[in-house]
Amino acid sequence: MPKNLYLSLLLCLAGLTSLPAQKKLGNETPEQKQQRMAWWTHDRFGMFIHWGLYALPARHEWVRNYERITNEDYEKYFNLFNPDLFDPKAWAKKAKAAGMQYAVLTSKHHEGFTLFDSKYTDYKATNSPAKRDLIKEYVEAFRAEGIKVGFYYSLIDWHHPDYTIDRVHPQRPLKDSDTAYERLNKGRDMAKYREYLYNQVTEILTRYGKIDILWLDFSFPGKYGKGRDDWGSVKLLEQIRKLQPGIIVDNRLDLNDYEDGVDFETPEQVSPKELEKYKGKTWETCQTFSGSWGYHRDENTWKTHRQLLDLLITSVANGGNLLLNVGPTARGEFDARANKALDSLGYWMHANSKSIYGCTYAPDGFKAPEGTRLTYNAAAKRLYLHLFDYPAGTLTLSGYAGKIKYAQFLHDNSELQLKTGNAGDVLLTLPAKPAYDIPVVELVVD
Ligand code: GLC
Repeated sequence: MPKNLYLSLLLCLAGLTSLPAQKKLGNETPEQKQQRMAWWTHDRFGMFIHWGLYALPARHEWVRNYERITNEDYEKYFNLFNPDLFDPKAWAKKAKAAGMQYAVLTSKHHEGFTLFDSKYTDYKATNSPAKRDLIKEYVEAFRAEGIKVGFYYSLIDWHHPDYTIDRVHPQRPLKDSDTAYERLNKGRDMAKYREYLYNQVTEILTRYGKIDILWLDFSFPGKYGKGRDDWGSVKLLEQIRKLQPGIIVDNRLDLNDYEDGVDFETPEQVSPKELEKYKGKTWETCQTFSGSWGYHRDENTWKTHRQLLDLLITSVANGGNLLLNVGPTARGEFDARANKALDSLGYWMHANSKSIYGCTYAPDGFKAPEGTRLTYNAAAKRLYLHLFDYPAGTLTLSGYAGKIKYAQFLHDNSELQLKTGNAGDVLLTLPAKPAYDIPVVELVVD
């Protein structure tokens, strides 16, 4: 063992110093990182968009895997992909009206089809009946609405001939065994795929101007899986940071042991309750309206307006972001269910977005009363009380005495009278419930 490592280990065991720093790829300081991520931490709410050939079968973006569909059998979707109603300006307007401040679109999903005009493949939108670079139009439309622009890019690729068959590949063996995989992977060369992946990520980060966020998906190391060595994650992330120094990158490259290998964690489809354990970390939860990311015609377990609000508010109340997904149809539109959900969020956000943007969890001295959740804007010195269960008449704010100056509804700035209660308590007087599923009280904090 090198002498100074031995020394630091001894000091550490003696409790005199902390463990040697984690591995690092670059030399960004924590302050610089905080600055790089400032817009994202402020904005809190984004739109995820999963769009690809899987919109045609319309039964989950993993349909190729679930039904073990071969390239040949999947080809019909490529030949029929003709999104005649695609209007990214309409998408961007919807996102904006719902209060979403950034967007992430699948430039390529696991199926391997690229929405952009890559020079490294023929399996792309420009060669399908769509005949255009859909990524370019998306970028332009969202930027024009003042929405920050991001890409999702799948590390996994079920179409590329050099991508080796693994345990989530549609052509995986019926029974796992080394010989079965060896036989299936004869002639496939991951080194070539690695280069392809590197080249395509380079393309999307050099052709469309400043890209604000990149979502790479996903690693599954272990037996018959894939991880950092398969993707060439270190080299890839270095290239990403070189091409787009301001970009924010997710945590799915399998680089968790690098201090700067991850910008944010991505709890996927977790419940509001589970979000509580992420408090204090840097994170964004991604969620679907229903169970599927891609357009799924027959999926009927759509979240209610209240469940969506709960996810948004509970994310911010625990210091995180919400990336809410839409799966446009094969004709290129958001369907009626998605529009309805977005419109209802827009109605609430129009009146209440101040409790979301620039907010995080409340300081320690404030406890959320039963049936409420708190968010806090430190710069504005405002505390936001979200009334999930609307109280009749009065709400007791225990321990708030001397800490708040004024109270009003957020949606109309109408005063809510405060009275002194028992020791340390403040009583908030409330009228009949206003026309918001979850009304918000704004408290001016001393
Ligand atoms: C999962 C799925 C994928 C989806 C993603 C979003 O990793 O494989 O279909 O794109 O989650 O977080």
